[in-house]
Amino acid sequence: MNVRQTSPLDRLLGDAQRALETVLGAPPALRANPADDEAEIVLDDDQRRHAAGLMRINHVGEVCAQALYCGQAAVARDPLTREHLLAAAQEETDHLAWCADRLRELDSRPSLLNPLWYAGSYAIGALAGLRGDGWNLGFVVETEHQVEAHIDEHLDSLPAADARSRAILQAMKADEARHAASAEQAGARILPPPVPTLMAAASKLMKAVAYRL
Ligand SMILES: [Fe+2]
Ligand SMILES: [Fe+2]
Repeated sequence: MNVRQTSPLDRLLGDAQRALETVLGAPPALRANPADDEAEIVLDDDQRRHAAGLMRINHVGEVCAQALYCGQAAVARDPLTREHLLAAAQEETDHLAWCADRLRELDSRPSLLNPLWYAGSYAIGALAGLRGDGWNLGFVVETEHQVEAHIDEHLDSLPAADARSRAILQAMKADEARHAASAEQAGARILPPPVPTLMAAASKLMKAVAYRL
């Protein structure tokens, strides 16, 4: 594989630009929105608010995934690992854009705390990355498995009529499973306790807050 060489300054500027786009802008998806094939069904106010709360959690999850992968890529020693992390982050951009589209359709908005979620996740990603590339990828596997688990919860909890949100979550779930599998193949190590438990606790807190804010 042809790996592009970049200077630390290039990377810093690239990271800053990506952070601003993720938090403030609307990075475009490269793939079509999976909801495009599903008709919009009118939801009542309670259903719409609940669906929006769940999709805001998913949007925050994608903001965090972007930041985790960029933070890890910033300190990855192996250029192939860095490329792997940045490629995964690119697919998360599609998820981010699809969730943002759905939030708009539901007359809602992304989390007001996105700058905070991004900064915290970037720092955690960089710290995890400093432990080395095998751990780095182990972190990807754990993150993807936890995202898959909360997508499953949301698929159960969404209003039955909300086929558009459901189509997005099903496509995301398939991608997250692929991201986990490819990180495993690339040499991920299994994270020691209590790291997975701490990650699950942080994700639980995020979900509780992002449902409303
Ligand atoms: Fe994702
Ligand atoms: Fe993913």
